[in-house]
Amino acid sequence: MNAAQLNEQLAGLTAPERLKLVASLYTEGVVFSTSLGQEDQVITHMIARNELPVRVFTLDTGRLFQETYDLLDSTRARYKIPIQAYFPDAAKVEALVTAKGANSFYASVENRKECCFIRKVEPLNRALKGARIWITGLRADQSENRKNLAFAEWDEGHQLTKVNPLLDWSLEDVLAFIKENWVPYNALHDKGFPSIGCAPCTRAVEPGEDIRAGRWWWEQSQKECGLHLEHKQFERHES
Ligand code: ADX
Ligand code: SF4
Repeated sequence: MNAAQLNEQLAGLTAPERLKLVASLYTEGVVFSTSLGQEDQVITHMIARNELPVRVFTLDTGRLFQETYDLLDSTRARYKIPIQAYFPDAAKVEALVTAKGANSFYASVENRKECCFIRKVEPLNRALKGARIWITGLRADQSENRKNLAFAEWDEGHQLTKVNPLLDWSLEDVLAFIKENWVPYNALHDKGFPSIGCAPCTRAVEPGEDIRAGRWWWEQSQKECGLHLEHKQFERHES
């Protein structure tokens, strides 16, 4: 089944049915990347409760909030499924911090993308090695960039099919699911953080502000770190 056919099938299903279908497509090679954000917590709940054979991983950039690390531990305790941690390459972080200091990302967009590449994109590439299906928690109404995504699409850069089972969920749907199912969530969500990334690069938003306004708030450009952009845009950082 190609990505377009899979997309068509997924469109008619509920989110747990979408996960069950993709998990049944391959005995190995179905992976889910969790940032421990609220959408991802919903997906983790569905994977664990349905005992789906999906490898769950998280990218620990080394700069996450303490609340996020607390949530990693409470999620492990609650669901008792392995959550594989991927760290950035130590030598690359050492070289970056030695050359530019600990907070180079505030100085320019290029520096920020360099840090995101080292701490997120390269570990993601490692985590996705051998995967056939990559499940994410992306939702269409999170941002302009995300509104044209499909439930399933071919990811040329990673050579796999990317699946977004909550694509058509609203933020309210996510919050209602979390409440009804007692899903553990990040304590920062109740303090004005709808979208959470690394601690130095995320702030709370004001009521009525865009839900991604607190991510890389000092930048005017695209609020993406590169995990979900065309692979090619980041090739120049590889050496
Ligand atoms: S980001 O690109 O701006 O950082 P966002 O926080 O919206 O992404 O999360 C979107 C999806 O990207 C998540 O549902 C998850 O699948 C993946 N993702 C983002 N950050 C991480 C992370 N640190 N570890 C694993 N997956 C992540
Ligand atoms: Fe670095 Fe900030 Fe990107 Fe995290 S979000 S990897 S700290 S630039």
